[in-house]
Amino acid sequence: MQRTPRVSIFPNPRDVARTLARRVAAALRDNPRVVLGLPTGRTPLLFYEELVRLHADEDVDFSQATTFNLDEFVGIPAGHPGSYRTFMGRFLFQHVNIDPARTNFLDGAAADLNEECERYEDSIAAAGGIDLQILGIGTNGHIGFNEPGQELDARTHKVTLRPETRRSNAALFGGDPDSVPTHALSMGMGTILHARKAVLLATGDTKARCVERVVRGPITTTLPASLLQLHPDAELMLDNAAAQELDGVS
Ligand code: GLP
Repeated sequence: MQRTPRVSIFPNPRDVARTLARRVAAALRDNPRVVLGLPTGRTPLLFYEELVRLHADEDVDFSQATTFNLDEFVGIPAGHPGSYRTFMGRFLFQHVNIDPARTNFLDGAAADLNEECERYEDSIAAAGGIDLQILGIGTNGHIGFNEPGQELDARTHKVTLRPETRRSNAALFGGDPDSVPTHALSMGMGTILHARKAVLLATGDTKARCVERVVRGPITTTLPASLLQLHPDAELMLDNAAAQELDGVS
């Protein structure tokens, strides 16, 4: 049996981004109605840049694709400069021909957050599920905003953000970790693991320790990304720096 997640290592972050963007372009050509799960953070920025370039130079067509973002902060309006919705507009959606009605976000300002989480799960199901879920990874091993803990929620839910996660998101809030919301909504681990295919991007040496544990196990709720070992079609796309603790794994 092939080990999972598969590991692909590239010389630098640009090559990781280029390869994944080419794959997404191919997926869009094969199935223009593909359903993508998308991450935020610094890691996917080059990937989004490459998608924008492929749209401009090679007419990659996003018009029928559907997207679901992984997570969103609680308590800030959609148009807030720190929201993940704003992030996606700025780095991808404003630069490609995606139909805004087909881009899905959690609304962190919804009056009833439980209802909002249920709505999101229903929308994913109504879209036929996620074909390709792209993920980043927090330095504590979180994916989406599924923070390490004794238990992990299976479905989209409200989370309390850990101090290190608020610190790493501070750039979106003027550099001040205290301005980062204390809570967020996130797809659950079950939501993520139900995607037909999952690709986790990790670049840079700050992710190397975590990546080694994700690949070598054990599977534990204290490292949410380790659950990707249970996914039948998961892949880690790494640059050399993020892969430096792995010898001989490919
Ligand atoms: C945030 C997001 C995660 C992302 C993580 C890593 O916490 N909720 O989905 O993977 O940041 O960010 P970066 O890529 O900047 O290291």
